[in-house]
Amino acid sequence: MERKIIFFDTTLRDGEQTPGVHLSVKQKADVARALEKLGVDVIEAGFPASSSGDFEAVSTISANVKNATVCALARACEADVDAAAEALRGAVRPRIHVFIATSDIHLEKKLGMTRDEALAAVGKTVSYAASKGAEVQFSAEDATRSDRGFLAEVLRAAVRSGAKIINIPDTVGYTTPEEFSDLFRYLKDTVPELRDVTMSAHCHDDLGLAVSNSLSAVMAGADQVECTVNGIGERAGNAALEEIAMILSVRGAGLGLTHGLNTKEIIPTSRMISDITGIHPSPNKAVVGANAFTHESGIHQHGIIRDRETYEIIDPRDVGLNESTITLGKLSGRHAFAERAALLGYALNDEAIKAAFQRFKEIADKKETMTDEDVRAIISEYLDGLEGKFRIGSFQIQSGNKIKAMALITLSSADGEITEAAPGDGPVDASFNAINKIAEPFMKSDGVALVSYGITAVTEGTDALGEAKVKIRAGGALYTGRGVSTDIIKASIKAYLNAVNKRISAAESASE
Ligand code: KIV
Ligand code: ZN
Repeated sequence: MERKIIFFDTTLRDGEQTPGVHLSVKQKADVARALEKLGVDVIEAGFPASSSGDFEAVSTISANVKNATVCALARACEADVDAAAEALRGAVRPRIHVFIATSDIHLEKKLGMTRDEALAAVGKTVSYAASKGAEVQFSAEDATRSDRGFLAEVLRAAVRSGAKIINIPDTVGYTTPEEFSDLFRYLKDTVPELRDVTMSAHCHDDLGLAVSNSLSAVMAGADQVECTVNGIGERAGNAALEEIAMILSVRGAGLGLTHGLNTKEIIPTSRMISDITGIHPSPNKAVVGANAFTHESGIHQHGIIRDRETYEIIDPRDVGLNESTITLGKLSGRHAFAERAALLGYALNDEAIKAAFQRFKEIADKKETMTDEDVRAIISEYLDGLEGKFRIGSFQIQSGNKIKAMALITLSSADGEITEAAPGDGPVDASFNAINKIAEPFMKSDGVALVSYGITAVTEGTDALGEAKVKIRAGGALYTGRGVSTDIIKASIKAYLNAVNKRISAAESASE
């Protein structure tokens, strides 16, 4: 019989630790809905003790999710466990995920703790978490750089104190496939108690081995893999959910492994995560990259036409890549637009469809045909625009080769309108300066720095939609923003404001 591998998705927790990524509570709730549709077994919804925003996101997701287990992270201390338990109160299947580092370098340099103190904290906190009525998962952070004997001792204490899932993180992406499977075998041999709990692997991709290491752990007996959509996460990211899912789909029968995911939701979920985070997979990324199913050479194209399997081991339809046959344009109706939005993976209510469709019509009037990329850009921008304190009221730009560029911008918010003018080195710089003058008092940071700015055409042609992306640094953190328009200055202003709004929301939730 095939062994079913449990998918523990941490896009909303470890994935949200990607530099520049900050999701609102509403965006997190949308992602959780998509993850449930994708069929993940566990959704790690956040780290409630870390901020009021994370607490609220975990509570909201707990109330909404019906099938998956909802998990909340907690350091090995009672206050964190209290916050996690409280945030998970509405969950049908709650899980508290207690973690502490076990490597000497983390204990000494980060926690300032001895091994004995860490061991005592594990026993105490895991049993406290177990008393809360949720199932308890324990993770030994930096397990792969920990002394094996001490790691075994800690895991024994965690199981004896009530942990039912034991996770072995390769926190810094240091291990190799053989070493990792050997560690799993060592732990199971040394700590017989581990045979009665679910073993889990959590791999980071610093050496590009996260997926291989996860698979290796599974082959050595791990039943749960922790991963993120598109592999997003700290530094080089986490093991990519879609890659592990497709390894199990394509090669699972031979390996004696199966899973419960609906793989047709992979592409819609991946695109949703790219849109919301602004982090797009590289074109050659396995399964979800733009080129993953594109055949360039004549020989390959010829083969594919004769028989798809000559050069494709995955049927693109199995991961939800559906070619649309109907072209949308200015004569298309709301119904066709709503259908296309659903096909592209967006679950929009009537109000959202109405608003996004109006924007679609405005742009379709200026463009001949609207591609899926255009529709996606319009909807993502609409969804981004729902968030944040400020909206664009109006803008006027003066620019030329003989005058200094000047921008006059009005931003509106629930408190009214604010107008500021500013000069700059070109129209985009002047616009950003004017926005800074308005927004800086709300950003609670010592200034704001533009880290990157770029503009690309969403599709080809002079009538293409321009998509601007910016990254700013404020208050020590990075924020990304995106804006779409047929007018590139407007796209740039929208993108900058989107990033600024994210900073303002983060500053507001930090001071709550
Ligand atoms: O990478 C890591 O060690 C983690 C733990 C909190 C599980 O993310
Ligand atoms: Zn991690």
